[in-house]
Amino acid sequence: MAEKLLEIKNLKLYFNEGKKNEVRAVDDVSFDIYKGETLGIVGESGCGKSTTGRTIIRLYNATDGQVLYDGADVHTKKSKAELKEFNRKMQMIFQDPYASLNPRMKVLDIIAEGIDIHGLAKSPKERMERVYALLETVGLNKEHINRYPHEFSGGQRQRIGIARALAVEPEFIIADEPISALDVSIQAQVVNLLKELQEERGLTYLFIAHDLSMVKYISDRIGVMYFGKLVEIGPAEKLYTTPCHPYTKSLLSAIPLPDPEYERNRVRVSYDPKSHNYAEDEEVKMREVTPGHFVLCSEREFELIQQEK
Ligand SMILES: Nc1ncnc2c1ncn2[C@@H]1O[C@H](COP(=O)(O)OP(=O)(O)OP(=O)(O)O)[C@@H](O)[C@H]1O
Ligand SMILES: [Mg+2]
Repeated sequence: MAEKLLEIKNLKLYFNEGKKNEVRAVDDVSFDIYKGETLGIVGESGCGKSTTGRTIIRLYNATDGQVLYDGADVHTKKSKAELKEFNRKMQMIFQDPYASLNPRMKVLDIIAEGIDIHGLAKSPKERMERVYALLETVGLNKEHINRYPHEFSGGQRQRIGIARALAVEPEFIIADEPISALDVSIQAQVVNLLKELQEERGLTYLFIAHDLSMVKYISDRIGVMYFGKLVEIGPAEKLYTTPCHPYTKSLLSAIPLPDPEYERNRVRVSYDPKSHNYAEDEEVKMREVTPGHFVLCSEREFELIQQEK
């Protein structure tokens, strides 16, 4: 079994806690992320994917629960030096590379920002060389160094965002819908780049996406979120071949396939959270269906799932 890099335990992030407009964006979520893997997180808009990612890297203070990184609690008080090191190890890539790149900064300075903060280059020459190497790594050219973000296409901007994240030699990258804003033809290129980088550098990814179609190609395991809860998690192929939670089934039924025969017969199933009909005393928790494949269900539902298998 691979080593755990992150352990997320009963994590909660409530916005406006205790107030009328309280939003339970992350509501008692537990999962692990293993070193070198890609964990995909999917679910519809507003289900809490971004908030989960942001809470993991401490952009938000958790309402409750724990995030352990290499065994150390992320949310406990830290010294400045510890925080800095922590911020170096965990990087984020965003959906809209344009919004996340300072329009008034040249590519050189955008990419070198982290190098400067963490003192990773000993001279301006080394700084420049590092940026050149990063540009090459992400498939851009040396000539791009003095240009501004608006001079690039969406796909190129995402490459700049990736170079900027890589500049500080991180271990763990949260990619929050990094390809959603890109043309379909460009999406695969960026996914392939991320995969190559992972192999070369042993990176660990949390890859956030709306639907199940693209995550399949990049994820080793996939977690499905619904309204702040993780409802199912397991090896990617298990989730596709034997989804257990009705919400996962509905997500899968929404993926179109380039097969006319399949498309003619494709039945979209919708998910009704009321359909569970849980009794008050029923314990609803994550239960293990097959090794590493967990589903949020009651004992009664768990028995039915096992009969179906
Ligand atoms: N800063 C905030 N203040 C209050 N509520 C927020 C804040 N950010 C997010 N929310 C709410 O928390 C819930 C989860 O939002 P989040 O952005 O994590 O969802 P998401 O799954 O990433 O959605 P999307 O697919 O649209 O990016 C939503 O109901 C959202 O409206
Ligand atoms: Mg989001």
